[in-house]
Amino acid sequence: MKVNAAIHRAFEIGRIDDRLYAAFIEHMGRAIYSGIYEPGHPQADANGFRRDVAQMVRDLNIPAIRYPGGNFVSAYNWEDGIGPKEDRPVRLDLAWRSKESNQVGINEFAVWAEELGLDMMLAVNLGSRGISDARNFMEYVNHPSGTYWSDLRRSHGVEAPYNVKMWCLGNEMDGPWQIGHKEAKEYGRLADETAKALRQLTPGAEMIVCGSSNDEMPTYPDWERGVLEECYENVDYISLHKYFGNSSRDTLNFFGKVEETGRYIQAIAGVIDFVKAKKRAKNDVYICFDEWNVWYHKRAQDSENWKSWDWPEAPALLEEDYNFEDALFIGCLLNEFIRRSDRVKIACIAQLVNVIAPIRAEADGPAWRQSIYWPYQMASLYGRGTALRVSVDGPTYNCTVADDVDYLDVAATHDEQAGTVSLFIVNRHLDETADLRLALTGFEAATLIDHQVIEGHDLRATNGPGSEPIAPVKGQGVAVEDGTLGGALAPLSYHVVRLKV
Ligand code: AHR
Repeated sequence: MKVNAAIHRAFEIGRIDDRLYAAFIEHMGRAIYSGIYEPGHPQADANGFRRDVAQMVRDLNIPAIRYPGGNFVSAYNWEDGIGPKEDRPVRLDLAWRSKESNQVGINEFAVWAEELGLDMMLAVNLGSRGISDARNFMEYVNHPSGTYWSDLRRSHGVEAPYNVKMWCLGNEMDGPWQIGHKEAKEYGRLADETAKALRQLTPGAEMIVCGSSNDEMPTYPDWERGVLEECYENVDYISLHKYFGNSSRDTLNFFGKVEETGRYIQAIAGVIDFVKAKKRAKNDVYICFDEWNVWYHKRAQDSENWKSWDWPEAPALLEEDYNFEDALFIGCLLNEFIRRSDRVKIACIAQLVNVIAPIRAEADGPAWRQSIYWPYQMASLYGRGTALRVSVDGPTYNCTVADDVDYLDVAATHDEQAGTVSLFIVNRHLDETADLRLALTGFEAATLIDHQVIEGHDLRATNGPGSEPIAPVKGQGVAVEDGTLGGALAPLSYHVVRLKV
């Protein structure tokens, strides 16, 4: 198929917030315990954190991490995770029907995050708890000294406050499964009052209010309107969550779900604009897409296992094996985030290790990078700077979730400081090579720095311990001449083309 495309130096979508490539990790399954933390593992450091896993995280160049939940946070007492480890209570985690040992709490997690250069994005419990506990938590985390909670932190060996800026006001409060689930108005009022209290403590702290758990919730998108009408002026972001599946094995429809995500973002951007206008507000609210990933491979098995559980500690849960098809899909999804980066400022892959994660680690065994690790890494490394509009003129297809889906999915970023342009391209066609000509208007002197490609795998192929066949390799066959990028892109292939401009 022939595809003509173009970018133009002046046609900018907007500045990409680095936090578009953030991540999420929750106290659930083996994400924390025997994921990032496993004292006694041959790779464990002095604090019990796995060096092999840490290195894989470091290589992703992630700017920030959302913690500690998720559904977990809605019945979590953060104080259970501070002070001497031997005194910490073991609790029942109501969200995931497991036991929580509390051997990792805020101070241990902060050491890990600091070592990896990650800013923490902390969620407060607005399910079983409320303003008072959120306030205490922030005082422990952010206040310098001279108060009960800040001095308690210092007595735990942490002299300087963490100065955490990003705060999530609960998690998925629209979901009937959530401990402390609320109606929109009820939650909106609580979020508003909590945000006000937290901002007294940390002026300039950024508040993230819960949107719908996904765009299939019966209350979507009225939930967002109802919540924002209560708290618009006191929040900075509204969260979106979405998980994707392909149980029907309809690859093109699966890829088309990226268009559905675009509609989701567009709808919530519209709700934000509506409430802003209604309130005559001056401030802007942006989107924080703080849970996204593929999640379907092990769902049935997990719910079966779950039935017979007797509150296990760190059970294997949501340990999806990602395949090549998922990697192509994630490439397209990240492209959509780049294209919508004028409204989406923060996005978190959910999650980071073991639980629906790009990184897997066996207890007392090796760690490995799943297929989806690579498009996430490529976007995080090279999708910085300014997002550029891309016009694509080529064949399209219709599927259940969307019409007119471009077979060739393209996003472009311009990093002015580095003097580079990056193109992220997925050929979604099942069997046709894309014969691409992409005009680089305003970048006529562009030269090729690098071309990385993931292609040629069976759609169901996966990586595993000691075997990671799905990974980028140096590409052949794209060239830049007189301001045009040309090349033949194989069916079902993922590309990152980097240009010096
Ligand atoms: O990421 C797994 C779970 O998915 C989270 O705990 C919850 O927020 C969402 O429903």
